[in-house]
Amino acid sequence: MATITLVTGGNRGIGLAACEGLAKLGMHVLMGSRDLAKGETAASALRQRGLEVEAIQVDVTDAESIEQARQTIQNQHGRLDVLVNNAAILIDETSNIMRLPIEIMRETMEANFYGPLMLCQAFLPMMQQQRYGRVVNVSSQAGQLSTMGNYAPAYSISKTALNALTVMFAAAMHGGDIKINAMCPGWVRTDMGGRNASRSPEEGADTIVWLATLPKDGPTGGFFRDRKPVAW
Ligand SMILES: NC(=O)c1ccc[n+]([C@@H]2O[C@H](COP(=O)([O-])OP(=O)(O)OC[C@H]3O[C@@H](n4cnc5c(N)ncnc54)[C@H](OP(=O)(O)O)[C@@H]3O)[C@@H](O)[C@H]2O)c1
Repeated sequence: MATITLVTGGNRGIGLAACEGLAKLGMHVLMGSRDLAKGETAASALRQRGLEVEAIQVDVTDAESIEQARQTIQNQHGRLDVLVNNAAILIDETSNIMRLPIEIMRETMEANFYGPLMLCQAFLPMMQQQRYGRVVNVSSQAGQLSTMGNYAPAYSISKTALNALTVMFAAAMHGGDIKINAMCPGWVRTDMGGRNASRSPEEGADTIVWLATLPKDGPTGGFFRDRKPVAW
């Protein structure tokens, strides 16, 4: 029985590399994409290389879209084993906290925080029922309080909140083999990271793949970069 995996924002960037890396391990990957046509194109390219990847419409800012995806996955697969909360936006790189428009903060929180919150609430009950699950929250060094400055305040705060959500959901799991962790992919060459970034999308996705396949005695409620714990 193949592991059923959902990656949000899977149609490009680190999410796409995560879909490929996880499918290469034999998982059945559901490539979440807010624009289904983009997802179909990206998924079909991976299928042509022999990987089991199918596109599914998920806009992480839309509760109805998440509920629709939950029902589709329940009906077609009966379960979800791995959830990668990867989709995010960075729209305030040139801003600073003194003049951050509130609507930018709200829009960022919708995608980067409320999205993962709703997805965890939708899929963790399924994981609890089967007493198995792996959730990977794709966070960022920008969200680390220990090194935080004044860079991209909405984005950074949304990732700090995502880290808190990771700790809370991990603490809410009692019994079963369910692990919920956050990770930082490093600075990655994607539309978000830009072409001068130091890492390839595959390198950025490595810790996602590792956390998605943790053994039963692996960590939960932690924050990782390069497969190692980092400070919050
Ligand atoms: N790149 C870096 O250097 C870096 C560093 C630290 C952390 N990260 C984190 O790594 C993750 C992936 O980043 P990336 O560099 O691959 O970003 P990216 O190239 O900008 O790709 C973002 C992905 O998220 C999707 N997305 C955005 N809003 C969405 C929504 N409302 N619903 C569903 N999907 C949505 C996009 O879909 P569309 O194609 O439809 O726009 C796209 O697939 C993010 O969580 C990011 O914060 C990246």
